[in-house]
Amino acid sequence: MSHTIVIFGASGDLTSRKLVPALFRLFSRGRLPDSTRIVGVSRSPYEHSEWRKSLRETTAKFVGKSFSEEAWESFAPNIYYQPGDIKDAESFQSLATFLDEIEEGKSTGRVYYLSTMPQLYEEAIQQLGAAGLACDKTGPRRVIIEKPFGTDLKTAQRLNESIHNVFREDQIYRIDHYLGKETVQNIFALRFANSIFEPLWNRNYIDHVQITVAEEVVIGRRAGYYDNSGILRDMFQNHILQLMMITAMEPPAKFDAALVRDEKVKVLHSVRKMTGGDFASQTVRGQYDGYLQEEGVPANSQTETFAALKLYCDNWRWQGVPFFLRSGKGMSCRTTQIVIQFKNVPHQLFGGSKKENKLGNRLVIQVQPAEGIQLHFETKVADAGMKTRTNHLDFNFQDSIGGQEMPDAYQRLLLDAVQGDASLFARGDEVELAWSIIDPIIEAWRSPAAPPLHTYQTGLWGPEECSQWLFDQKREWFDVCPVI
Ligand code: BG6
Repeated sequence: MSHTIVIFGASGDLTSRKLVPALFRLFSRGRLPDSTRIVGVSRSPYEHSEWRKSLRETTAKFVGKSFSEEAWESFAPNIYYQPGDIKDAESFQSLATFLDEIEEGKSTGRVYYLSTMPQLYEEAIQQLGAAGLACDKTGPRRVIIEKPFGTDLKTAQRLNESIHNVFREDQIYRIDHYLGKETVQNIFALRFANSIFEPLWNRNYIDHVQITVAEEVVIGRRAGYYDNSGILRDMFQNHILQLMMITAMEPPAKFDAALVRDEKVKVLHSVRKMTGGDFASQTVRGQYDGYLQEEGVPANSQTETFAALKLYCDNWRWQGVPFFLRSGKGMSCRTTQIVIQFKNVPHQLFGGSKKENKLGNRLVIQVQPAEGIQLHFETKVADAGMKTRTNHLDFNFQDSIGGQEMPDAYQRLLLDAVQGDASLFARGDEVELAWSIIDPIIEAWRSPAAPPLHTYQTGLWGPEECSQWLFDQKREWFDVCPVI
């Protein structure tokens, strides 16, 4: 069956930077189903040829050295442009006619990609329904929705409701691009395709888990969005909770969308809700020095650009094991890593490092940019009696694929949506539960009893108070920039 991918918000940055390059790469590698068409929709009045020309430039730029002119020449005729306004019902009627025309009455699957401003999602969905574009009698109809999915629990519930008025849950693909990253999917493989880790993957052997998503960049020109959002909405409600779910979930009986997501949702159900003093003792807030001077940021903004949370999962596997989650802009380097920190041996036989707070073995999952896995363990120091020191085994993902380019997250996710596999997309209840964990923290941080907002210097690991906070809990952050 052929497919048509309709991108709403076609003139936006995401389309040229991510979506079309990802589709082009899939096409070049023969991964896109035959005769897949791409139709861009936005208000700008382009001709097909103009849009193709402008996409050629941007695709060549973002695909880089693997861009091939020859492949583009075969790809470009499948790209179309249809001017249209999401607020205008007639635009959707014209779109419906145009799609029927290019699909020539053949049974065709359609994926509608909402890459518009989030305020337009509800309207776009409603218009798709009213124009009969959601009806799947002549082929599957699916809709991909970009983040943010709501700005809190209430708005996410309302959005779910209005989407469900038009599309069934199995037609809805809520995207979180972290799930498209190869190394995030590799966590499933690490945990569920090996027998050696899983027996240790629980409260009997693990002291705590750290999940860090550090970014060197600051907010740049995104003040309009960022100052209203802050780091909890921007990174925690989605990406970081996704990483936590995959790290903490039980093995599903089968790797299919319903069962994988059932297990992930159970993790969110188990997260202990913070109350009272927890908001002060289990969270750290920070704002980088210089944030208030960024263009468009109000002079008295209290928006966090850094946060650290301590969460617990109240279930059999994880009882008593803290999950320390942190993310920040303006950090020391760009790194996303999950650290599984194992407990110490029950009885120390050998003299080793006398470092305070030293814990035992550690498994470091480097999600990006140095994709890989390291296992840290003790070895004997040569010719020094029975002294030990920490060494590590290092697996590098890039080496293992022989220098091939690591696929971009959108490649995998777009292909999955075309093929109807929703395992790596968030389900409605999952998104709502994630908000129900984050909302009370945001609320507490906006109340008079909010914990202090620490200022931190860019280029470090966030506020010093955050390092101290963990140190006081007899633990330390794994503050290591990966070697690329
Ligand atoms: C986005 C956030 O969802 O993820 C950005 O809005 C953030 O603020 C980005 O920079 C990080 O994504 P990645 O893939 O670069 O880690």
